[in-house]
Amino acid sequence: SNHLQVNDQDQLMIGGVLATDLAKEYQTPLYVYDVLTMREQMRAFKQAFEQSGQKGAVAYASKAFACQAMYQVVAEEGLHLDLVSAGEIYTAVAAGFPMANVSYNGNNKSLADLTFAVESGVGTIIVDNFLELDLLHRVMAGREGQQNVILRVVPGVSAHTHDYIQTGQVDSKFGFDLESGQAKRAYEIAEGDESLHLLGLSAHIGSQIFEEDGFELAGQKLVDLCASWDYQPEVLDLGGGFGIAYTDADKPRLPEDLVLALLKSVQEQTAKKGMTQPDIWIEPGRSIAGPAGYSLYTVGSRKDIPGVRTYLAVDGGMGDNIRPALYQADYQAVLANNVHGAPAEHVRLVGKYCESGDVLIQDQELPATEPGDLVAVLNTGAYGYSMASRYNRNPVPAVVFVENGLSQLVVEGESLADLTSHDRAYQLPGKW
Ligand code: LLP
Repeated sequence: SNHLQVNDQDQLMIGGVLATDLAKEYQTPLYVYDVLTMREQMRAFKQAFEQSGQKGAVAYASKAFACQAMYQVVAEEGLHLDLVSAGEIYTAVAAGFPMANVSYNGNNKSLADLTFAVESGVGTIIVDNFLELDLLHRVMAGREGQQNVILRVVPGVSAHTHDYIQTGQVDSKFGFDLESGQAKRAYEIAEGDESLHLLGLSAHIGSQIFEEDGFELAGQKLVDLCASWDYQPEVLDLGGGFGIAYTDADKPRLPEDLVLALLKSVQEQTAKKGMTQPDIWIEPGRSIAGPAGYSLYTVGSRKDIPGVRTYLAVDGGMGDNIRPALYQADYQAVLANNVHGAPAEHVRLVGKYCESGDVLIQDQELPATEPGDLVAVLNTGAYGYSMASRYNRNPVPAVVFVENGLSQLVVEGESLADLTSHDRAYQLPGKW
């Protein structure tokens, strides 16, 4: 955690603003994003393309963290967006995002979803299955022009990561299977459909991946597949999944280095096959949003069990960050007012939800804390807010962007009244 910004009193700063000031102004729990950190990662990805002389696009996979302000930053940095739902498409339109630079992924897009995507001007639809090919054909009937599509295939590569977030192995709900000839059949249908313009193929092998070999293998599979069909793609989309360090124990290769290795490897593979170099697209989510995000919590109660452990509770938990409970994900935290202070105790940092699994950090060293102190859990920018729930009827916290010493609310925190705003009284006959 030595990349942390602190002032001369060892207090945590985020984007040039004191964390305790953010907590005072916006309340806790609070999601805070250091916008410059996100911009720098976006630029590092683009730099990898420039460095390898590779044309293509970096599409931010917004499932990691989506809101209008984020889409504005993505547009400012000239990245594309990879979206997965009508809700994300709606948000992009609302943010004024250039929709031609949007790709739309997902394994079960409905007729309504595809209609909405086409009518919203989504640039590229990444088709996942035969039903979608059929539905899209129906959506396009009677419309001018062609819809750009990419076919998602399963490269049969399993990345060594948590089972729930592996997607590239053969036994997956996503994409067209290679071995059984499904991918070939889909290719023939798409090529033969005059309402569709087939741009190429995509693959996504998983998430939180630290090494380049899986990506390179997937790239090779796509190139080999195209060559075997005698097909010259305009685009190969290699997905996302570039890992980040959540704790000091994680030692991933830098995301931009993974991408550079991947680009060079695909360039070699296509050259070997005598193909014209296609554009390459990537879809990073976590690596852009994750390291930039901080979850701020206020310390509350504690329970010391002599000889066993100490539980230290904060005012958030599994509702704002489900990842520890769902994936046994590790995080580390600092005391915002004494970031590098000598550890005084080991605690299990827990939330306030009525569930024993509501643990944010299994074992965290902290300086002495008191109720009211501010704790920051680090690297929570990806799949925290985006997977938030209202479990136990806790409102979803606010999101604040910080840049150049200034903070701005970009998602309002929910109020108690918001929680009942969709409730409707049950009209029991003759009662109430
Ligand atoms: N492209 C596709 C087709 C994907 O399925 C994903 C993630 C990405 C891109 C972005 O992957 P990233 O660069 O963020 O690793 N909720 C889980 C992660 C699920 C990832 C799903 N797909 C977590 O919290 O770890």
